[in-house]
Amino acid sequence: MTNNYLLPLFLSLTVISSVSANFQKDVEITWGDGRGQITNNGELLTLSLDKSSGSGFQSKNEYLFGKIDMQMKLVPGNSAGTVTTLYLKSPGTTWDEIDFEFLGNLSGDPYTLHTNVYTQGKGDKEQQFKLWFDPTADFHTYTILWNPQRIIFTVDGTPIREFKNMESIGTLFPKNRPMRMYSSLWNADDWATRGGLVKTDWSKAHFTASYRGFNQEACVWSNGKSSCPDVSKQGTTGSWLSQELDSTAQERMRWVQRNYMIYNYCTDAKRFPEEFDITWGDGRGKVLNNGELLTLSLDRASGSGFQSKKEYLFGKIDMQLKLVPGNSAGTVTAYYLKSKGDTWDEIDFEFLGNLTGDPYVMHTNVYTQGKGDREQQFNLWFDPTADFHTYSVLWNPHHIVFLVDGIAIRQFKNLEHRGIQYPKLQPMRLYSSLWNADQWATRGGLVKTDWSNAPFTASYRNFRADACVSFAGKSSCPASSPRWFTQKLDLTAEDKMRAVQSKFMVYNYCTDTKRFPQGVPKECNIH
Ligand SMILES: *[C@@H]1O[C@H](CO)[C@@H](O)[C@H](O)[C@H]1NC(C)=O
Ligand SMILES: *[C@@H]1O[C@H](CO)[C@@H](O)[C@H](O)[C@H]1NC(C)=O
Repeated sequence: MTNNYLLPLFLSLTVISSVSANFQKDVEITWGDGRGQITNNGELLTLSLDKSSGSGFQSKNEYLFGKIDMQMKLVPGNSAGTVTTLYLKSPGTTWDEIDFEFLGNLSGDPYTLHTNVYTQGKGDKEQQFKLWFDPTADFHTYTILWNPQRIIFTVDGTPIREFKNMESIGTLFPKNRPMRMYSSLWNADDWATRGGLVKTDWSKAHFTASYRGFNQEACVWSNGKSSCPDVSKQGTTGSWLSQELDSTAQERMRWVQRNYMIYNYCTDAKRFPEEFDITWGDGRGKVLNNGELLTLSLDRASGSGFQSKKEYLFGKIDMQLKLVPGNSAGTVTAYYLKSKGDTWDEIDFEFLGNLTGDPYVMHTNVYTQGKGDREQQFNLWFDPTADFHTYSVLWNPHHIVFLVDGIAIRQFKNLEHRGIQYPKLQPMRLYSSLWNADQWATRGGLVKTDWSNAPFTASYRNFRADACVSFAGKSSCPASSPRWFTQKLDLTAEDKMRAVQSKFMVYNYCTDTKRFPQGVPKECNIH
Protein backbone atom coordinates (compact mmCIF):
# COMPACT_ATOMS: atom_id res chain seq x y z
CA MET A 1 0.00 0.00 0.00
CA THR A 2 1.12 3.54 -0.54
CA ASN A 3 2.24 5.91 2.13
CA ASN A 4 1.38 9.01 0.26
CA TYR A 5 0.85 11.20 3.27
CA LEU A 6 2.70 14.41 3.62
CA LEU A 7 5.28 14.27 6.28
CA PRO A 8 5.09 17.21 8.59
CA LEU A 9 7.47 19.96 7.73
CA PHE A 10 10.79 20.23 9.44
CA LEU A 11 11.43 16.54 9.38
CA SER A 12 14.32 15.73 11.59
CA LEU A 13 15.93 12.61 12.84
CA THR A 14 15.23 13.10 16.50
CA VAL A 15 13.39 10.02 17.58
CA ILE A 16 11.56 9.81 20.81
CA SER A 17 11.17 6.24 21.80
CA SER A 18 11.41 5.81 25.49
CA VAL A 19 11.23 2.09 25.85
CA SER A 20 11.56 1.99 29.60
CA ALA A 21 9.13 4.42 30.98
CA ASN A 22 10.15 7.01 33.41
CA PHE A 23 7.16 8.91 34.59
CA GLN A 24 9.37 11.41 36.43
CA LYS A 25 10.89 12.39 33.14
CA ASP A 26 7.93 12.05 30.78
CA VAL A 27 4.81 13.27 32.56
CA GLU A 28 3.54 15.86 34.99
CA ILE A 29 0.93 15.28 37.60
CA THR A 30 -1.33 18.23 36.99
CA TRP A 31 -4.11 18.02 39.52
CA GLY A 32 -5.44 16.15 42.55
CA ASP A 33 -3.41 17.72 45.31
CA GLY A 34 -1.14 14.77 46.04
CA ARG A 35 -3.64 12.10 44.88
CA GLY A 36 -1.41 11.37 41.90
CA GLN A 37 1.92 9.78 42.80
CA ILE A 38 5.00 8.54 41.04
CA THR A 39 6.92 5.77 42.82
CA ASN A 40 9.48 3.01 42.18
CA ASN A 41 12.03 5.39 40.65
CA GLY A 42 9.57 6.66 38.14
CA GLU A 43 8.32 3.26 37.02
CA LEU A 44 4.90 3.36 38.60
CA LEU A 45 2.26 6.04 38.69
CA THR A 46 -0.98 5.91 40.64
CA LEU A 47 -4.00 8.15 40.48
CA SER A 48 -6.58 8.21 43.20
CA LEU A 49 -10.06 9.53 43.75
CA ASP A 50 -11.95 10.28 46.93
CA LYS A 51 -15.01 12.29 47.72
CA SER A 52 -13.21 15.59 47.54
CA SER A 53 -11.18 15.12 44.35
CA GLY A 54 -9.85 12.93 41.62
CA SER A 55 -6.44 13.37 40.02
CA GLY A 56 -4.69 13.47 36.70
CA PHE A 57 -1.47 13.74 34.75
CA GLN A 58 -0.33 14.76 31.29
CA SER A 59 2.61 14.09 29.03
CA LYS A 60 5.33 16.68 28.87
CA ASN A 61 5.50 16.21 25.11
CA GLU A 62 2.99 17.18 22.48
CA TYR A 63 2.72 14.87 19.49
CA LEU A 64 1.72 15.21 15.89
CA PHE A 65 1.19 11.53 15.14
CA GLY A 66 2.51 8.79 17.34
CA LYS A 67 2.08 5.46 18.97
CA ILE A 68 1.38 5.75 22.64
CA ASP A 69 1.29 2.67 24.87
CA MET A 70 0.28 2.62 28.48
CA GLN A 71 -0.13 -0.28 30.84
CA MET A 72 -3.02 0.28 33.20
CA LYS A 73 -4.58 -1.56 36.10
CA LEU A 74 -8.00 -0.13 36.75
CA VAL A 75 -9.84 0.60 39.99
CA PRO A 76 -10.75 -2.81 41.45
CA GLY A 77 -13.86 -3.92 43.32
CA ASN A 78 -16.84 -1.64 43.31
CA SER A 79 -15.71 1.03 40.87
CA ALA A 80 -19.22 2.12 39.88
CA GLY A 81 -19.41 5.85 39.19
CA THR A 82 -15.68 6.22 38.56
CA VAL A 83 -14.17 6.96 35.18
CA THR A 84 -10.52 6.45 34.24
CA THR A 85 -9.42 8.13 31.04
CA LEU A 86 -6.44 7.90 28.73
CA TYR A 87 -6.55 10.26 25.79
CA LEU A 88 -4.77 12.54 23.38
CA LYS A 89 -6.11 16.05 23.00
CA SER A 90 -5.16 19.34 21.41
CA PRO A 91 -6.02 22.69 23.02
CA GLY A 92 -8.61 25.21 21.87
CA THR A 93 -12.27 25.28 20.96
CA THR A 94 -11.86 23.29 17.75
CA TRP A 95 -9.74 20.64 19.35
CA ASP A 96 -8.93 17.13 18.16
CA GLU A 97 -9.12 14.25 20.58
CA ILE A 98 -8.64 10.47 20.68
CA ASP A 99 -10.23 8.82 23.71
CA PHE A 100 -10.09 5.74 25.81
CA GLU A 101 -12.45 5.94 28.79
CA PHE A 102 -12.98 3.16 31.29
CA LEU A 103 -16.36 3.30 32.97
CA GLY A 104 -16.35 1.53 36.33
CA ASN A 105 -19.00 -0.85 37.55
CA LEU A 106 -20.24 -2.77 40.55
CA SER A 107 -18.00 -5.62 41.72
CA GLY A 108 -18.36 -8.48 39.30
CA ASP A 109 -20.03 -6.37 36.60
CA PRO A 110 -17.92 -5.54 33.59
CA TYR A 111 -16.17 -2.25 32.91
CA THR A 112 -17.20 -0.49 29.73
CA LEU A 113 -14.35 0.63 27.51
CA HIS A 114 -15.54 3.72 25.68
CA THR A 115 -13.70 5.13 22.66
CA ASN A 116 -14.25 8.29 20.67
CA VAL A 117 -12.56 10.51 18.11
CA TYR A 118 -13.06 14.27 17.93
CA THR A 119 -12.04 16.43 15.03
CA GLN A 120 -12.23 20.20 15.21
CA GLY A 121 -14.34 19.99 18.34
CA LYS A 122 -16.81 17.50 16.95
CA GLY A 123 -17.06 14.00 18.40
CA ASP A 124 -20.15 11.78 18.38
CA LYS A 125 -18.14 8.84 17.13
CA GLU A 126 -18.49 6.57 20.14
CA GLN A 127 -17.77 2.88 20.13
CA GLN A 128 -17.94 0.90 23.34
CA PHE A 129 -16.58 -2.49 24.28
CA LYS A 130 -16.48 -4.98 27.06
CA LEU A 131 -13.08 -6.50 27.74
CA TRP A 132 -12.20 -10.17 27.47
CA PHE A 133 -10.31 -10.06 30.78
CA ASP A 134 -10.64 -8.44 34.17
CA PRO A 135 -8.87 -5.09 33.72
CA THR A 136 -8.51 -4.65 37.47
CA ALA A 137 -6.68 -7.93 38.19
CA ASP A 138 -3.53 -7.02 36.34
CA PHE A 139 -1.85 -4.50 34.05
CA HIS A 140 -2.92 -4.50 30.41
CA THR A 141 -1.58 -2.45 27.55
CA TYR A 142 -3.78 0.16 25.88
CA THR A 143 -2.39 1.72 22.72
CA ILE A 144 -3.36 4.64 20.56
CA LEU A 145 -1.72 4.60 17.17
CA TRP A 146 -2.24 7.80 15.22
CA ASN A 147 -0.74 8.30 11.81
CA PRO A 148 -1.81 10.30 8.76
CA GLN A 149 -3.96 7.46 7.40
CA ARG A 150 -5.64 6.04 10.46
CA ILE A 151 -6.15 5.87 14.18
CA ILE A 152 -6.00 2.41 15.70
CA PHE A 153 -7.11 1.59 19.25
CA THR A 154 -5.39 -1.52 20.53
CA VAL A 155 -5.73 -3.58 23.70
CA ASP A 156 -2.88 -5.97 24.54
CA GLY A 157 -1.81 -5.87 20.92
CA THR A 158 -5.29 -6.66 19.59
CA PRO A 159 -6.80 -3.87 17.52
CA ILE A 160 -10.34 -3.11 18.62
CA ARG A 161 -11.12 -0.08 16.49
CA GLU A 162 -9.81 1.60 13.40
CA PHE A 163 -10.78 5.15 12.43
CA LYS A 164 -9.59 5.70 8.92
CA ASN A 165 -8.71 8.96 7.28
CA MET A 166 -11.68 9.42 4.98
CA GLU A 167 -11.13 13.04 4.09
CA SER A 168 -11.68 11.94 0.49
CA ILE A 169 -15.38 11.58 1.32
CA GLY A 170 -15.57 14.69 3.45
CA THR A 171 -15.07 13.19 6.91
CA LEU A 172 -12.73 15.26 9.03
CA PHE A 173 -9.57 13.61 10.29
CA PRO A 174 -7.23 14.94 13.00
CA LYS A 175 -3.92 15.70 11.39
CA ASN A 176 -2.95 19.30 11.95
CA ARG A 177 -3.17 19.87 15.68
CA PRO A 178 -0.53 18.49 18.00
CA MET A 179 -2.00 16.63 20.95
CA ARG A 180 -0.82 15.91 24.43
CA MET A 181 -1.57 12.71 26.31
CA TYR A 182 -3.76 13.01 29.37
CA SER A 183 -5.04 10.64 31.97
CA SER A 184 -7.37 11.13 34.88
CA LEU A 185 -9.45 9.34 37.45
CA TRP A 186 -12.61 11.12 38.45
CA ASN A 187 -16.15 10.79 39.65
CA ALA A 188 -18.81 10.73 36.95
CA ASP A 189 -21.62 9.01 38.75
CA ASP A 190 -24.18 11.30 37.18
CA TRP A 191 -23.81 9.30 33.92
CA ALA A 192 -21.11 6.65 33.91
CA THR A 193 -22.56 3.46 35.33
CA ARG A 194 -25.81 2.19 33.92
CA GLY A 195 -26.41 5.65 32.65
CA GLY A 196 -26.07 7.25 36.11
CA LEU A 197 -28.35 4.87 38.02
CA VAL A 198 -25.50 3.41 40.06
CA LYS A 199 -23.70 5.97 42.21
CA THR A 200 -20.19 5.98 43.55
CA ASP A 201 -19.99 4.21 46.89
CA TRP A 202 -17.75 6.58 48.81
CA SER A 203 -17.40 4.10 51.65
CA LYS A 204 -15.03 2.28 49.25
CA ALA A 205 -12.87 5.39 48.67
CA HIS A 206 -10.19 6.11 47.96
CA PHE A 207 -10.19 4.50 44.52
CA THR A 208 -6.87 3.88 42.78
CA ALA A 209 -5.75 3.19 39.22
CA SER A 210 -2.14 2.27 38.40
CA TYR A 211 0.06 2.96 35.39
CA ARG A 212 3.36 1.68 34.12
CA GLY A 213 5.18 0.95 30.86
CA PHE A 214 4.47 4.29 29.21
CA ASN A 215 5.95 4.21 25.74
CA GLN A 216 5.85 7.14 23.35
CA GLU A 217 7.02 6.60 19.80
CA ALA A 218 5.97 9.79 18.20
CA CYS A 219 6.63 12.85 16.15
CA VAL A 220 7.24 15.33 18.90
CA TRP A 221 6.03 18.86 18.49
CA SER A 222 8.06 21.64 19.91
CA ASN A 223 8.36 25.32 19.07
CA GLY A 224 6.09 24.93 16.06
CA LYS A 225 8.07 22.03 14.62
CA SER A 226 7.44 18.35 14.47
CA SER A 227 10.29 15.87 14.73
CA CYS A 228 9.54 12.48 13.36
CA PRO A 229 11.47 9.26 13.40
CA ASP A 230 13.46 8.46 10.30
CA VAL A 231 11.03 6.48 8.16
CA SER A 232 13.68 5.58 5.64
CA LYS A 233 15.33 3.41 8.25
CA GLN A 234 13.87 -0.06 8.15
CA GLY A 235 12.95 -1.78 11.34
CA THR A 236 10.34 -1.07 13.91
CA THR A 237 11.28 2.51 14.68
CA GLY A 238 8.91 4.70 12.78
CA SER A 239 6.92 1.86 11.26
CA TRP A 240 3.86 3.05 13.16
CA LEU A 241 3.89 6.14 10.98
CA SER A 242 2.67 4.14 8.01
CA GLN A 243 1.20 1.17 9.86
CA GLU A 244 -2.01 -0.35 8.68
CA LEU A 245 -3.91 -3.44 9.72
CA ASP A 246 -2.93 -6.57 7.85
CA SER A 247 -5.54 -9.24 7.21
CA THR A 248 -4.74 -11.11 10.43
CA ALA A 249 -5.11 -7.93 12.46
CA GLN A 250 -8.38 -7.13 10.70
CA GLU A 251 -9.65 -10.60 11.42
CA ARG A 252 -8.80 -10.13 15.12
CA MET A 253 -10.47 -6.75 15.19
CA ARG A 254 -13.62 -8.23 13.69
CA TRP A 255 -13.52 -10.94 16.34
CA VAL A 256 -13.42 -8.30 19.08
CA GLN A 257 -16.13 -6.25 17.45
CA ARG A 258 -18.38 -9.27 16.98
CA ASN A 259 -17.99 -10.51 20.51
CA TYR A 260 -17.25 -7.48 22.66
CA MET A 261 -18.59 -4.37 21.01
CA ILE A 262 -21.61 -3.13 22.91
CA TYR A 263 -22.21 0.21 21.25
CA ASN A 264 -21.39 1.54 17.81
CA TYR A 265 -22.40 5.00 16.67
CA CYS A 266 -22.36 3.72 13.09
CA THR A 267 -25.30 1.43 13.68
CA ASP A 268 -27.15 3.81 15.94
CA ALA A 269 -30.24 5.45 14.64
CA LYS A 270 -29.56 8.45 16.88
CA ARG A 271 -27.81 10.17 14.08
CA PHE A 272 -29.99 13.02 12.91
CA PRO A 273 -27.59 15.75 14.00
CA GLU A 274 -24.74 13.89 12.34
CA GLU A 275 -26.48 13.17 9.09
CA PHE A 276 -28.86 16.04 8.43
CA ASP A 277 -29.15 19.78 8.35
CA ILE A 278 -32.48 21.37 9.01
CA THR A 279 -32.45 23.79 6.13
CA TRP A 280 -35.58 25.84 6.43
CA GLY A 281 -38.62 26.53 8.60
CA ASP A 282 -37.15 28.86 11.18
CA GLY A 283 -37.22 26.44 14.12
CA ARG A 284 -40.16 24.37 12.83
CA GLY A 285 -37.80 21.46 12.23
CA LYS A 286 -36.51 19.96 15.47
CA VAL A 287 -34.15 17.24 16.58
CA LEU A 288 -35.37 15.64 19.81
CA ASN A 289 -34.64 12.74 22.21
CA ASN A 290 -30.86 13.00 21.99
CA GLY A 291 -30.96 13.04 18.25
CA GLU A 292 -33.20 9.99 17.89
CA LEU A 293 -36.21 11.81 16.59
CA LEU A 294 -36.66 14.54 14.04
CA THR A 295 -39.91 16.42 13.57
CA LEU A 296 -41.01 18.82 10.88
CA SER A 297 -43.93 21.12 11.36
CA LEU A 298 -46.13 23.34 9.28
CA ASP A 299 -48.28 26.29 10.23
CA ARG A 300 -49.85 29.09 8.25
CA ALA A 301 -46.60 31.02 8.09
CA SER A 302 -44.25 28.26 6.99
CA GLY A 303 -43.45 24.61 6.60
CA SER A 304 -40.00 23.15 7.22
CA GLY A 305 -37.46 20.79 5.78
CA PHE A 306 -34.15 19.03 6.16
CA GLN A 307 -31.53 17.54 3.90
CA SER A 308 -28.74 15.03 4.25
CA LYS A 309 -25.21 16.31 4.69
CA LYS A 310 -23.99 13.59 2.39
CA GLU A 311 -24.62 12.96 -1.27
CA TYR A 312 -25.12 9.39 -2.35
CA LEU A 313 -24.42 7.62 -5.59
CA PHE A 314 -26.40 4.41 -5.20
CA GLY A 315 -27.58 3.09 -1.89
CA LYS A 316 -30.23 1.51 0.21
CA ILE A 317 -31.80 4.23 2.26
CA ASP A 318 -34.37 3.62 4.97
CA MET A 319 -36.31 6.04 7.11
CA GLN A 320 -39.23 5.56 9.43
CA LEU A 321 -41.92 8.20 9.08
CA LYS A 322 -45.07 8.92 11.02
CA LEU A 323 -47.22 11.27 9.03
CA VAL A 324 -49.36 14.23 10.09
CA PRO A 325 -52.36 12.74 11.93
CA GLY A 326 -55.99 13.83 11.95
CA ASN A 327 -57.12 16.29 9.36
CA SER A 328 -54.02 16.58 7.21
CA ALA A 329 -55.84 17.65 4.06
CA GLY A 330 -53.78 20.13 2.02
CA THR A 331 -50.44 19.11 3.56
CA VAL A 332 -47.74 17.28 1.68
CA THR A 333 -44.86 15.42 3.25
CA ALA A 334 -42.16 14.92 0.67
CA TYR A 335 -39.32 12.49 1.10
CA TYR A 336 -36.95 12.21 -1.84
CA LEU A 337 -33.50 11.89 -3.32
CA LYS A 338 -32.44 14.55 -5.75
CA SER A 339 -29.33 15.67 -7.58
CA LYS A 340 -28.39 19.25 -8.43
CA GLY A 341 -28.71 21.24 -11.63
CA ASP A 342 -31.20 21.61 -14.47
CA THR A 343 -30.90 18.06 -15.67
CA TRP A 344 -31.32 16.53 -12.27
CA ASP A 345 -32.29 13.02 -11.29
CA GLU A 346 -34.84 12.45 -8.59
CA ILE A 347 -36.55 9.60 -6.75
CA ASP A 348 -39.71 10.69 -4.94
CA PHE A 349 -42.03 9.65 -2.20
CA GLU A 350 -44.75 12.21 -1.49
CA PHE A 351 -47.52 11.75 1.00
CA LEU A 352 -50.66 13.72 0.26
CA GLY A 353 -52.69 14.40 3.39
CA ASN A 354 -56.44 13.95 3.67
CA LEU A 355 -59.46 14.61 5.84
CA THR A 356 -59.64 12.62 9.07
CA GLY A 357 -60.52 9.05 8.20
CA ASP A 358 -59.84 9.42 4.48
CA PRO A 359 -56.72 7.71 3.20
CA TYR A 360 -53.40 9.39 2.45
CA VAL A 361 -52.19 9.04 -1.11
CA MET A 362 -48.60 7.95 -1.46
CA HIS A 363 -47.25 9.40 -4.65
CA THR A 364 -44.02 8.16 -6.28
CA ASN A 365 -42.04 9.43 -9.25
CA VAL A 366 -38.68 9.02 -10.96
CA TYR A 367 -36.95 11.88 -12.80
CA THR A 368 -34.03 11.38 -15.12
CA GLN A 369 -32.15 14.38 -16.51
CA GLY A 370 -34.87 16.75 -15.34
CA LYS A 371 -37.72 14.76 -16.82
CA GLY A 372 -40.34 13.08 -14.64
CA ASP A 373 -43.93 12.27 -15.64
CA ARG A 374 -43.63 8.80 -14.19
CA GLU A 375 -46.18 9.02 -11.41
CA GLN A 376 -47.53 6.01 -9.63
CA GLN A 377 -49.80 6.48 -6.65
CA PHE A 378 -50.85 4.12 -3.91
CA ASN A 379 -53.09 3.83 -0.94
CA LEU A 380 -51.46 2.25 2.06
CA TRP A 381 -52.58 -0.92 3.79
CA PHE A 382 -52.20 0.70 7.20
CA ASP A 383 -52.79 4.05 8.86
CA PRO A 384 -49.47 5.88 8.28
CA THR A 385 -50.27 8.39 11.03
CA ALA A 386 -50.83 5.89 13.84
CA ASP A 387 -47.28 4.64 13.97
CA PHE A 388 -43.87 4.75 12.31
CA HIS A 389 -43.44 2.80 9.09
CA THR A 390 -40.31 2.29 7.04
CA TYR A 391 -40.05 3.84 3.59
CA SER A 392 -37.01 2.80 1.61
CA VAL A 393 -35.32 3.46 -1.67
CA LEU A 394 -33.02 0.84 -3.12
CA TRP A 395 -31.01 2.45 -5.89
CA ASN A 396 -28.35 0.40 -7.61
CA PRO A 397 -27.13 0.04 -11.20
CA HIS A 398 -29.90 -2.48 -12.02
CA HIS A 399 -32.96 -0.74 -10.72
CA ILE A 400 -34.68 1.64 -8.35
CA VAL A 401 -37.05 -0.04 -5.93
CA PHE A 402 -39.51 1.75 -3.66
CA LEU A 403 -40.26 -0.23 -0.52
CA VAL A 404 -42.75 0.19 2.29
CA ASP A 405 -42.03 -1.81 5.44
CA GLY A 406 -39.66 -3.92 3.39
CA ILE A 407 -42.22 -4.73 0.70
CA ALA A 408 -41.31 -3.64 -2.81
CA ILE A 409 -44.14 -1.58 -4.28
CA ARG A 410 -42.52 -0.17 -7.39
CA GLN A 411 -39.56 -0.95 -9.54
CA PHE A 412 -37.92 1.29 -12.14
CA LYS A 413 -35.49 -0.82 -14.07
CA ASN A 414 -32.33 0.31 -15.77
CA LEU A 415 -33.38 0.02 -19.42
CA GLU A 416 -30.58 2.07 -20.87
CA HIS A 417 -29.97 -0.64 -23.47
CA ARG A 418 -33.47 0.17 -24.73
CA GLY A 419 -32.71 3.87 -24.90
CA ILE A 420 -34.32 4.93 -21.64
CA GLN A 421 -32.31 7.19 -19.37
CA TYR A 422 -31.36 5.88 -15.96
CA PRO A 423 -29.97 7.86 -13.00
CA LYS A 424 -26.46 6.63 -12.41
CA LEU A 425 -23.99 9.47 -12.68
CA GLN A 426 -25.37 12.28 -10.55
CA PRO A 427 -25.05 11.94 -6.78
CA MET A 428 -28.25 12.71 -4.89
CA ARG A 429 -28.95 14.18 -1.50
CA LEU A 430 -31.85 13.07 0.65
CA TYR A 431 -34.48 15.74 1.33
CA SER A 432 -37.67 15.90 3.26
CA SER A 433 -40.17 18.67 3.76
CA LEU A 434 -43.61 19.32 5.11
CA TRP A 435 -45.50 22.03 3.31
CA ASN A 436 -48.85 23.37 2.30
CA ALA A 437 -50.03 22.35 -1.17
CA ASP A 438 -53.74 22.85 -0.80
CA GLN A 439 -53.99 24.25 -4.31
CA TRP A 440 -53.64 20.68 -5.63
CA ALA A 441 -52.90 18.01 -3.05
CA THR A 442 -56.18 16.79 -1.64
CA ARG A 443 -58.91 15.78 -4.07
CA GLY A 444 -57.09 17.78 -6.63
CA GLY A 445 -57.16 20.97 -4.54
CA LEU A 446 -60.83 20.89 -3.60
CA VAL A 447 -60.11 20.34 0.07
CA LYS A 448 -58.15 23.17 1.69
CA THR A 449 -55.84 23.07 4.69
CA ASP A 450 -57.71 23.67 7.93
CA TRP A 451 -55.32 26.00 9.74
CA SER A 452 -57.28 25.67 12.96
CA ASN A 453 -55.53 22.28 13.29
CA ALA A 454 -52.04 23.76 12.87
CA PRO A 455 -49.24 23.18 13.60
CA PHE A 456 -49.11 19.96 11.62
CA THR A 457 -46.27 17.63 12.52
CA ALA A 458 -44.54 14.71 10.81
CA SER A 459 -41.92 12.61 12.62
CA TYR A 460 -38.81 10.76 11.47
CA ARG A 461 -36.57 8.20 13.08
CA ASN A 462 -34.21 5.28 12.43
CA PHE A 463 -32.52 6.70 9.38
CA ARG A 464 -30.15 4.27 7.81
CA ALA A 465 -28.09 4.67 4.66
CA ASP A 466 -26.13 1.76 3.28
CA ALA A 467 -24.83 3.85 0.49
CA CYS A 468 -21.91 4.93 -1.57
CA VAL A 469 -21.06 8.44 -0.49
CA SER A 470 -19.98 10.91 -3.09
CA PHE A 471 -17.63 13.74 -2.30
CA ALA A 472 -15.53 15.99 -4.51
CA GLY A 473 -16.25 13.91 -7.57
CA LYS A 474 -15.35 10.60 -5.96
CA SER A 475 -17.68 7.95 -4.66
CA SER A 476 -16.78 5.64 -1.78
CA CYS A 477 -18.79 2.58 -0.93
CA PRO A 478 -18.91 1.06 2.54
CA ALA A 479 -17.45 -2.22 1.31
CA SER A 480 -16.05 -3.30 -2.00
CA SER A 481 -19.23 -5.09 -2.99
CA PRO A 482 -22.15 -4.30 -0.74
CA ARG A 483 -25.03 -6.75 -1.02
CA TRP A 484 -27.60 -4.09 -1.95
CA PHE A 485 -25.45 -3.03 -4.87
CA THR A 486 -26.26 -6.15 -6.85
CA GLN A 487 -29.60 -6.88 -5.23
CA LYS A 488 -32.46 -7.78 -7.54
CA LEU A 489 -36.03 -8.68 -6.76
CA ASP A 490 -36.54 -12.39 -6.40
CA LEU A 491 -39.73 -14.04 -7.61
CA THR A 492 -41.43 -13.84 -4.23
CA ALA A 493 -40.70 -10.12 -3.97
CA GLU A 494 -41.97 -9.57 -7.51
CA ASP A 495 -45.16 -11.49 -6.77
CA LYS A 496 -45.70 -9.47 -3.62
CA MET A 497 -45.10 -6.26 -5.53
CA ARG A 498 -47.67 -7.20 -8.15
CA ALA A 499 -50.17 -8.08 -5.42
CA VAL A 500 -49.67 -4.66 -3.76
CA GLN A 501 -49.98 -2.92 -7.11
CA SER A 502 -53.18 -4.66 -8.04
CA LYS A 503 -54.75 -3.92 -4.68
CA PHE A 504 -53.40 -0.53 -3.69
CA MET A 505 -52.26 1.32 -6.77
CA VAL A 506 -54.63 4.20 -7.46
CA TYR A 507 -52.81 5.83 -10.36
CA ASN A 508 -50.31 4.56 -12.92
CA TYR A 509 -48.89 6.76 -15.66
CA CYS A 510 -48.33 3.62 -17.69
CA THR A 511 -52.04 3.05 -18.09
CA ASP A 512 -53.02 6.70 -18.55
CA THR A 513 -53.71 6.65 -22.28
CA LYS A 514 -55.64 9.91 -22.04
CA ARG A 515 -52.54 11.66 -20.87
CA PHE A 516 -50.32 10.01 -23.46
CA PRO A 517 -52.49 9.92 -26.60
CA GLN A 518 -49.40 9.13 -28.72
CA GLY A 519 -48.72 6.10 -26.57
CA VAL A 520 -47.44 5.64 -23.01
CA PRO A 521 -43.72 6.02 -22.34
CA LYS A 522 -41.53 3.24 -23.69
CA GLU A 523 -40.52 1.75 -20.32
CA CYS A 524 -44.19 0.92 -19.66
CA ASN A 525 -44.16 -1.73 -22.35
CA ILE A 526 -40.96 -3.50 -21.29
CA HIS A 527 -41.25 -6.11 -18.58
C1 LIG B 1 -22.22 -2.49 34.24
O1 LIG B 1 -22.83 -3.76 34.30
C2 LIG B 1 -24.13 -3.81 33.77
C3 LIG B 1 -24.68 -5.22 34.01
O2 LIG B 1 -23.85 -6.17 33.40
C4 LIG B 1 -24.10 -3.44 32.30
O3 LIG B 1 -25.41 -3.37 31.79
C5 LIG B 1 -23.41 -2.11 32.11
O4 LIG B 1 -23.25 -1.83 30.73
C6 LIG B 1 -22.04 -2.15 32.77
N1 LIG B 1 -21.25 -0.93 32.56
C7 LIG B 1 -21.59 0.31 32.84
C8 LIG B 1 -20.58 1.34 32.61
O5 LIG B 1 -22.70 0.64 33.26
C1 LIG C 1 -58.66 11.51 0.13
O1 LIG C 1 -59.80 10.72 0.30
C2 LIG C 1 -60.66 10.68 -0.83
C3 LIG C 1 -61.89 9.86 -0.43
O2 LIG C 1 -61.52 8.57 -0.01
C4 LIG C 1 -59.93 10.09 -2.03
O3 LIG C 1 -60.72 10.16 -3.16
C5 LIG C 1 -58.62 10.84 -2.26
O4 LIG C 1 -57.87 10.21 -3.27
C6 LIG C 1 -57.82 10.86 -0.98
N1 LIG C 1 -56.51 11.48 -1.08
C7 LIG C 1 -56.23 12.68 -1.58
C8 LIG C 1 -54.82 13.11 -1.52
O5 LIG C 1 -57.04 13.41 -2.07
